Amino acid sequence: MENLTGKQFGHYQIVAPLGEGGMAAVYKAYQPSMERYVAVKVLPRHMVTSEEFVLRFRREAKLLAQLQHPHILSVFDYGEADGYPYIVMPFVQGGTLSELIQKRSLSLADVRRIVTQLGSALSYAHARGMIHRDIKPSNVLIDESNNCLLTDFGLARMVEASIKITTSGTVMGTPAYMSPEQGAGSQIDQRSDIYSLGIILYEMVTGRVPYEAETPVAVVFKHIQDPLPSARKLNPNLPESLELILLKALAKNPDDRYQTAEDFVQAIQKALPESGPADNLTTQNSAPLASPTPASNFQSIQSASAATHLESKVVTSKNLRPNRFPIWILAGFGAIIFVAIVAVIATKMLNPQISPTPAVTNAVIETIPPTNSPIPLLTSTSVPTSIPPTEISSGTNFRDDFVDQLADGWTWIAEDPSKWSLSKVAGSLQIIASDASFDGPYLPLNILLRDAPIGDFEITTSLRFTPTSNFQFAGLVIFQDHGNVLQFGRAFCDVVNACVKDGVYFDDFQDGSVNGSNYATPFHGQVIYLRLRRIGNTYTGYYSEDGEKWVMTGEHARDLSQARVGLVAAQASTEIPAVFDYFTMTALQP
Ligand SMILES: Nc1ncnc2c1ncn2[C@@H]1O[C@H](COP(=O)(O)OP(=O)(O)OP(=O)(O)O)[C@@H](O)[C@H]1O
Ligand SMILES: [Mg+2]
Repeated sequence: MENLTGKQFGHYQIVAPLGEGGMAAVYKAYQPSMERYVAVKVLPRHMVTSEEFVLRFRREAKLLAQLQHPHILSVFDYGEADGYPYIVMPFVQGGTLSELIQKRSLSLADVRRIVTQLGSALSYAHARGMIHRDIKPSNVLIDESNNCLLTDFGLARMVEASIKITTSGTVMGTPAYMSPEQGAGSQIDQRSDIYSLGIILYEMVTGRVPYEAETPVAVVFKHIQDPLPSARKLNPNLPESLELILLKALAKNPDDRYQTAEDFVQAIQKALPESGPADNLTTQNSAPLASPTPASNFQSIQSASAATHLESKVVTSKNLRPNRFPIWILAGFGAIIFVAIVAVIATKMLNPQISPTPAVTNAVIETIPPTNSPIPLLTSTSVPTSIPPTEISSGTNFRDDFVDQLADGWTWIAEDPSKWSLSKVAGSLQIIASDASFDGPYLPLNILLRDAPIGDFEITTSLRFTPTSNFQFAGLVIFQDHGNVLQFGRAFCDVVNACVKDGVYFDDFQDGSVNGSNYATPFHGQVIYLRLRRIGNTYTGYYSEDGEKWVMTGEHARDLSQARVGLVAAQASTEIPAVFDYFTMTALQP
């Protein structure tokens, strides 16, 4: 975002930048009428996608302004200036909890106080039906009296809403602190905030967040499937009661957690007395305590000497600092929320009685099934070929090489029939998708369709298409109606730290919305070969860069027996050309 220093936003003169997160920039500003400094949080201009967003933003800001609690940072004002939506808050000098954790270790008394304050803020908001959705240390500001002030209430919801206006299947949060159900894109309630507060607790007492990985999605997976690494292994000085509290707060299934923030706070208060033995912890390597710090005196802790802190802290070394991913949005080309990769798996994890849990890491990318797999006809030797299967055994097999004209039997569902053509390069079909390729707002409109064989089948294509900006897509489609579509192809999702920018996506739209089990995997080649196989009610997508080595992207179990099959190209704003070299359809024999 451009530097707005020196600009006038409503009554506020922007004085200096204070910080920038994943979604917004925060500035120090001066309000002459009150002769005070304030903090102005400026959201990106592109969030203002419609009048609907502006109305929603105003509504949310008013709701936030009504939250009056000693540990929730209040909202003074809001507005829009120069196309930017902004929120005005008190200017807080003491930094964030994130900085505090990094700067120094915390005593158990600190921990007790922080959890108590944040828990009471959450209780208050939850009682009013508000879920924070992005509880993390950088959203906790510390005032001059060393009290915690929870900030960014409702921001995640605003941002989600702005994206949902143009697309669907958006999840926002910060993976390191995000509950399994939030990461999976499922419905969340107050217990998701309780989980995130549990992660903060874990980080405060061990010096690290429990789940770390190279990518945001890998972190989400870990929240869903990995058992909680023992906090007492990382810090043997922790009381066992604290470990038990962590296990409960961080239960995968929300039903197994503390059901209210009050319950969580009560448990902490019981386990960690305000002062006394529980605070007299030393780390494995530290010297005996000089003197216990009373929990009620958080202020004195910060001003106490560094030596005392070193001795009385429960947290170990800083080189354990986690790599924090910034706040992130998972948004999709239509349904391309790629966190949804894990939704089905998550559901299975959270409801183990439904079906056994697959190995998540294997579920996303697998090589094509080996010869002895139950999939009929095609084997590992017959599949790896750039030329689709040639066992044309009945009239339902079909191949179009796009030479001279389209073969018979195609139907075009187009926003504008002039937007497709046989390419000047002989032997290819070019689909040019332009504005509004999504129907209300996430279903594709540029579709070339034909009847599918009865029973099991496979469709393939070879596609030359390099997406360059957000929400461009081209590939194979299984189309039952506008609400029920599977699309498998190459797409681009340009949301910082969130999407596979350029990748293979396998999306499932069910009854007009995202099924929540979509798959994405990075891809950067020139040409992509796509193969979509239907066996019974299971659709499996495979892609290849060379037409020989195939990778499975994912599977969708759907009853789409009435569906037709074909090719699709779509995007959200700019014009894109997608060139298909052939399309085949092969009936698979039982
Ligand atoms: N009211 C405030 N007073 C003073 N500084 C603030 C205030 N609000 C935010 N800041 C500073 O601005 C920084 C950026 O805040 P912002 O909420 O945009 O990002 P974040 O919370 O750090 O990260 P993310 O965007 O991932 O949530 C904060 O880390 C904090 O240092
Ligand atoms: Mg923030």
